[in-house]
Amino acid sequence: MKILVTGGLGFIGSHTVVELQSEGFEVVIIDDCSNASEEVLKGINAITGKMPLYEKIDLKDKEKVIDFFKRHDDVEGVIHFAASKAVGESVEKPLLYYENNIATLVYILKELSQKKKSSFIFSSSCTVYGQADKMPITESAPIKPAESPYGNTKQMGEEIIRDTCLVTPNLNAIALRYFNPMGAHPSAEIGELPIGVPQNLIPFITQTGVGMRKELSVFGDDYPTKDGTCVRDYIYVVDLAKAHVQALKRLLEHENGENYEVFNLGTGTGSSVLEVIQSFERVSGEKLNYKIVDRRPGDVISAFADTTKANEVLGWKAQYTLDEAMKSAWDWEQKIRN
Ligand SMILES: NC(=O)c1ccc[n+]([C@@H]2O[C@H](COP(=O)([O-])OP(=O)(O)OC[C@H]3O[C@@H](n4cnc5c(N)ncnc54)[C@H](O)[C@@H]3O)[C@@H](O)[C@H]2O)c1
Repeated sequence: MKILVTGGLGFIGSHTVVELQSEGFEVVIIDDCSNASEEVLKGINAITGKMPLYEKIDLKDKEKVIDFFKRHDDVEGVIHFAASKAVGESVEKPLLYYENNIATLVYILKELSQKKKSSFIFSSSCTVYGQADKMPITESAPIKPAESPYGNTKQMGEEIIRDTCLVTPNLNAIALRYFNPMGAHPSAEIGELPIGVPQNLIPFITQTGVGMRKELSVFGDDYPTKDGTCVRDYIYVVDLAKAHVQALKRLLEHENGENYEVFNLGTGTGSSVLEVIQSFERVSGEKLNYKIVDRRPGDVISAFADTTKANEVLGWKAQYTLDEAMKSAWDWEQKIRN
């Protein structure tokens, strides 16, 4: 069965390609390398023994998207990771984000709507919940006004898919709301490769650990949490990748209840920034250089998932601990810096 993975050279996409190939799916990747390198293909090949098909296409080019689906009319499912994801940049360049995250989604959905049957998985985010009123966060928690154009593209993306599914019974879709993806493949053949200063906590920690960054700033230690620092739900990227395969199978095997569904993907456990630092220090045996600074505007205090729906309906549960995920991130960082 041929599956299109857009953004398949990226962090979560590459790990999902590995899991798909390990389960026998034939994968074709589309990526424009705007935030990834073709070297990732070698890593995927080293792990699975199979080179996925790959086309360098910018999905903003509508004609190329149409042409791709003409040439690959045997694609049975699409996992759509391709997007721009830097929150700060999205505030400075909103149109870039609306074009790259929304226009590309519309072009793909247009092609899928014309097929007799199609399955579509969308990368959404827990940012849609903003600061939720209750923890853990269930899928029925209210969607809060987006804090950034990036966050807005995830909310709008979900609405576009929902509205399209309403009038397109042959289109089956699942939006997966990720909490905080982290880590790298245990083989250290693929992992997260942030360009410039990392936006996420884990690569900032590991880069500080190898001496690329002087110190980590912890934004605020006076929040109403267990130790005063912000709390998030860190989910290992291999667990996350496996959830995509489960979701895809649900659609391909017609096990979905409605033709548009939403699932939270997290561990169900909240970890504070200080707990994450302690995890790094445990697995690396290194002391991390960090300092507490003022709160940062826009940070939510706490966000962790209620994973009951994913556990019971999708039949998926995160398997790895924070320390195991952290060890993979540390192994990866050391490997790429060597
Ligand atoms: N990493 C996170 O913390 C996180 C959290 C929630 C949601 N998400 C979402 O998950 C998805 C994957 O995230 P990631 O962390 O793997 O990001 P990533 O940047 O590593 O991967 C995205 C990939 O898409 C490609 N791409 C971007 N625009 C493209 C275009 N126009 N045409 C073709 N390829 C294009 C990039 O080159 C990159 O390889 C994104 O949609 C992101 O918004 C990520």
